[in-house]
Amino acid sequence: MKLVIVKDYAELSRKAAEMLVSEVKANPKTVFGLATGGTPVGMYRELIKLSQAESIDFSQASSFNLDEYVGLSSTHPQSYRSYMQENLFNHINIPAEKTYVPAGNTTDHLAECARYEEAIRLAGGIDIQVLGIGNNGHIGFNEPGSSAESLTRVVQLTDSTIEANARYFDSVDQVPTQAVSMGIKTILGTKKVVLLASGEAKAEAVRLMLEGEPTADVPASLLQLHPNVTVIVDHGAASKLTTSVLAGTKPSGS
Ligand code: PGA
Repeated sequence: MKLVIVKDYAELSRKAAEMLVSEVKANPKTVFGLATGGTPVGMYRELIKLSQAESIDFSQASSFNLDEYVGLSSTHPQSYRSYMQENLFNHINIPAEKTYVPAGNTTDHLAECARYEEAIRLAGGIDIQVLGIGNNGHIGFNEPGSSAESLTRVVQLTDSTIEANARYFDSVDQVPTQAVSMGIKTILGTKKVVLLASGEAKAEAVRLMLEGEPTADVPASLLQLHPNVTVIVDHGAASKLTTSVLAGTKPSGS
């Protein structure tokens, strides 16, 4: 995995946005894999800014989001569909019908998960997948224990994830306990991954991802099995890495 260490969150956001812009410039039909959460908010802001400044055309692009809460309708303010509309889709010219987010409130989750995998396949696969990382090492909502063979499915959220996400809801009791999430195999099947981590709270998960053995106990460590991963971290998130991993990286902006 390629490690890029940047000074701070602003630089991380800019670098990630630039990667997405170069992708769509090189291939207007880019299929994006997108993530939600606190970390990519700055990247989306930069992406919108760059897209407006450079008139970047997303009219032939499409996107697939990693996950959605079970039980929330797409219009619920805390749904990941609402997040994506507010943070990105309302501000660029990607066609609405080509932005896919799993449906969290269907009556047949199995069918929805199969439909999602099939839609990714029909789109030709995901060209560039953005990921965050949970404090517990999850990617998407693939919590510890998720198999490398897992596909899009309904997952149970761990207490630590529910607590981490309670900040978006009025109370912890309102956080859904399940989600539909792309699986590890779905993520490993993407052509390129860019994983973002900011702040010391992520330092241990980042260390285990990069320095530990690949294990389902730390789902992000399974990215070691992917041939094209760029990990962008700021100094806080890099703070527990050892010199052997740091050798060969080029700290920028410090
Ligand atoms: P965060 O979440 O960006 O809100 O820290 C990342 C994740 O849980 O994958």
